[in-house]
Amino acid sequence: MTTSASSPQQQAIRISNVCKSYGNYPVLKGIEAEVIRGEVVVICGPSGSGKSTLIRTVNRLEEINSGAITFDGQNIHAPMRTKELNLLRSRIGFVFQNFNLFPHLSVVENVSISPIRVKGVAPGIARDKALKLLDRVGLADKAGAYPGQLSGGQQQRVAIARALAMEPPVMLFDEPTSALDPEMVGEVLTVMKGLAAEGMTMLCVTHEMGFARDVADRVWFIDAGEILEMAPPEEFFKHPRHPRAQRFLADLRH
Ligand SMILES: Nc1ncnc2c1ncn2[C@@H]1O[C@H](COP(=O)(O)OP(=O)(O)O)[C@@H](O)[C@H]1O
Ligand SMILES: [Mg+2]
Repeated sequence: MTTSASSPQQQAIRISNVCKSYGNYPVLKGIEAEVIRGEVVVICGPSGSGKSTLIRTVNRLEEINSGAITFDGQNIHAPMRTKELNLLRSRIGFVFQNFNLFPHLSVVENVSISPIRVKGVAPGIARDKALKLLDRVGLADKAGAYPGQLSGGQQQRVAIARALAMEPPVMLFDEPTSALDPEMVGEVLTVMKGLAAEGMTMLCVTHEMGFARDVADRVWFIDAGEILEMAPPEEFFKHPRHPRAQRFLADLRH
C-alpha cells in the first residue's frame, strides 16, 4: 500500500496515524490516508470494520485518541471553541444514512436554516439559494412540504441540498442509500454522481459497488480498523490484493 506524495496544496484531507478505541476496544488502528482536492473516495469494508467511525472523525463527530486529521491544513482535532468547531464543521458537508432532517421544519427551511444561523446569511437570500438547490436535486415542487410527507429518497436529496447550502468544499457520505427502498437508490446516486462530475471532493462510505466502479477515483478497503487496500476501482475490483478484500468482494457477489 502506498501513500502518494501529493503536495499539501493538493490535499483536502490528511489522516495521519489515527487511532481510536471505545473503552479498550480499538476501532481505528493507525489510519494513514489522504484525500486530494476533487477526488472521490469510496470507503468499503465489512460491517463493524470502522467505516462510520473513521468518516465521523473527519468532522469531529467522534474524537480520536491519537494521530491527526487536517482539513485544508487545519488540525480538526485541535482544542477549539464550540463556535470555531461549528464553523469548521459547516465547511465539511455530512450526509447520514438516516437523513436527520428537522421534522418540524419545511423542506426549504431545512435547507436554509444553517446558512442563516451559522453564517448569518439574510433569510431571503438563504431561501432563494435553498430553492435553487432544491431544483438541482429535483425537488423544487417540495419546498413547502415537511420531511414526513416525503419518500426516503426525497428526504435524502433534501439532506444533500441542506449540506450543499453551506457551500462546503468537501462532502462526506455515510451509507446514504442504505436506508432506502431499492427503487429510490438511483435518484440519490444520480445526485451524488452529478456532484462528483462538478469536481466536488467526496468521501463516501457505501456498499454501492456500481457507484464505486463508475465514480470513485480510489477505493479504500477497511477491515478491523485498518485500511488494507487503496486502489483505483478498476484495480480493486479486478485484482484485489489483500485476501480479506478478495473475500469481501466474493461475499458481495453472492
Ligand atoms: N459509540 C460506540 N460505543 C462502543 N462501540 C462502538 C460505538 N460505535 C461503534 N462501535 C463499535 O465500533 C466498531 C466499528 O463500528 P462502525 O465504525 O460503526 O463500523 P461500520 O460503519 O464499518 O459498520 C463496531 O464493532 C461497533 O460495534
Ligand atoms: Mg457504518
